[in-house]
Amino acid sequence: MGADTNQQARWEKRYLEGRTAWDRGQPSPALALGLAEMPAPPARVLIPACGRGYEIAELAKRGYDVTGVDFSPSAVADLKRLLDTQQIEACVVAYDLFDWEADEPFDVIYEQTALCALEPSKWLDYAERLCRWIQPGGILIGAFMQTHRQGGPPWHCSLATVESLFPETRWEWPTRRDQTISHPSGLKELAIYLKRKK
Ligand SMILES: C[S@@+](CC[C@H](N)C(=O)[O-])C[C@H]1O[C@@H](n2cnc3c(N)ncnc32)[C@H](O)[C@@H]1O
Repeated sequence: MGADTNQQARWEKRYLEGRTAWDRGQPSPALALGLAEMPAPPARVLIPACGRGYEIAELAKRGYDVTGVDFSPSAVADLKRLLDTQQIEACVVAYDLFDWEADEPFDVIYEQTALCALEPSKWLDYAERLCRWIQPGGILIGAFMQTHRQGGPPWHCSLATVESLFPETRWEWPTRRDQTISHPSGLKELAIYLKRKK
């Protein structure tokens, strides 16, 4: 499948015009919560649709082996600059997630408002990829936008939708499913930590 150049151009335009309301300029509080669930460094972590990737820098600083994928050239350039400035190493891939494949599965995937940036028609395909890119016993840390309105991006992703995309047949769910994180837009993200079943 060829890269979705229309979507790529739309996202790149947002970065070029500074319309990046999602960008915290620092790691999300979801990461601090997620760290408690993660295996110790140097575990392999994937951050799909990483944007400017503040979480990549933070995890790499802590000794994790981090890979970030995003198809916006500007976001990727900004992230590489951040890593260079801080003299941190991480693997940054400028690619469409639907054209990319992992060489080997990851121990952790940190999915921060990536699914919510995708057209809902792509969610099932994307969830299949996440399942394939994470090894059995691996951890999926997810932050899903709660807009409670039609349209997007960001697209609203309810708990029921997360449950259907990541079913209990394949994922271990925690008892607590109502934890939220504040988003720079004033909205909330549903924070979910899942373990891929063996
Ligand atoms: C809402 S932003 C979130 C960025 C980052 N996760 C954060 O929270 O700051 C969505 C990101 O997804 C990227 N993106 C959207 N669709 C993509 C695709 N098919 N492949 C790779 N990146 C994609 C955009 O370029 C953008 O950086």
